[in-house]
Amino acid sequence: MTDLVTVTDEGPVRTIRMNRPEKKNALTMAMYDAMADGIETASAANIRCLLIGGAPTVFCAGNDIGDFLQAAMGGGLGAPILRFLHTLARCETPLVAAVQGNAVGVGTTMLMHCDHVVASTEAKFSTPFVSLGLVPEAASSLIAPRLLGHTKAFSLLVMGKPLTADEAKDAGLVNTVAAPDAVEAEAMKAAQHIAALPPQAVLASRRLMRGSVDEIDARIDIEADEFKRRLQSTEAQAAFTAFMTRKR
Ligand code: COA
Repeated sequence: MTDLVTVTDEGPVRTIRMNRPEKKNALTMAMYDAMADGIETASAANIRCLLIGGAPTVFCAGNDIGDFLQAAMGGGLGAPILRFLHTLARCETPLVAAVQGNAVGVGTTMLMHCDHVVASTEAKFSTPFVSLGLVPEAASSLIAPRLLGHTKAFSLLVMGKPLTADEAKDAGLVNTVAAPDAVEAEAMKAAQHIAALPPQAVLASRRLMRGSVDEIDARIDIEADEFKRRLQSTEAQAAFTAFMTRKR
C-alpha cells in the first residue's frame, strides 16, 4: 500500500493518480504496484474507462533514479516495473491520460498504451533513455515507430529530443491540447464519453485496433533484458550518479 498513488472511482470512470509531486512523481516500486493494482481490479469493479493523471505541475519524471542505481547493483528492472508494464499492455479497459508539466521516460512511454491523451499547453514529453546509458522500455521501441514513424521515434527515443504538446499532437501521441486549468476536465469528459459507449463494442473495437498484444508483451521482455545489461554498464551508472549528486 502507498498513498503516493490514489485510486478514485466516479461511476464507471476510475482515476489513477500519481501523487509524489515533491519528487516530480518519479515512480517507486510501490507506486508501480499500486498503479498495476488499480488497472487489474478495474473490470471486476465495472469500470469502463481508466484515467491516468499526475499533479498540476508534473505528470511523471520517470522511474526513480535512486531505484535505478539500486537496480544496477541488484541486477535488473524490479518485478513491480515489469508487472506494471505487462498490466498496461494487457489492459482491456480503455485508457485516457491527463498530462500536465513534464512527462519523462516511462511518463511518456506509458502514454503509448493509452487510447486518448489530453495534454496541457505547458506539457513536455521526453525520453532521455540513451543519454542515461539505457534503452527504451514499455514496448516503446515497437509502438513509437508505428505511432510516430521511424524518424520522429528516433528523435524522441534515441536522440532524446523532447516534444512540446503541439508537437506531440502533430506526431500522434496526443489527441487534445488544452489550457493547464482545463486539462483534467477535458480528460474526464473524454473518459465519461468512452464509458458511456456500449462496453462490448468498445472492447471488441479496441482489440481489433491494437493488434497482437502478445507481440507487445514479448517486446517488453526483450527490452527488459537489454535494459538489465545497460543498467549495469558504466555509462548508466555514471549518468545516475551524476543526477543524484548534481549541484543546483
Ligand atoms: N528520480 C529520483 N528523483 C527525482 C527524479 C527521478 N526520476 N526526478 C526528479 N527527482 C527529484 C529531484 O532529485 C529533486 O529532489 P530533491 O528536492 O530532494 O533534491 C526533486 O525531485 C525535484 O526535482 P528537480 O530536478 O529539482 O525539479 P525541476 O522542476 O528542476 O526538474 C525534471 C524536473 C523532471 C525536468 C527533472 O527533475 C529531471 O530531469 N528528472 C529526471 C528525469 C529522468 O531522467 N528520469 C528517468 C527517465 S528514464
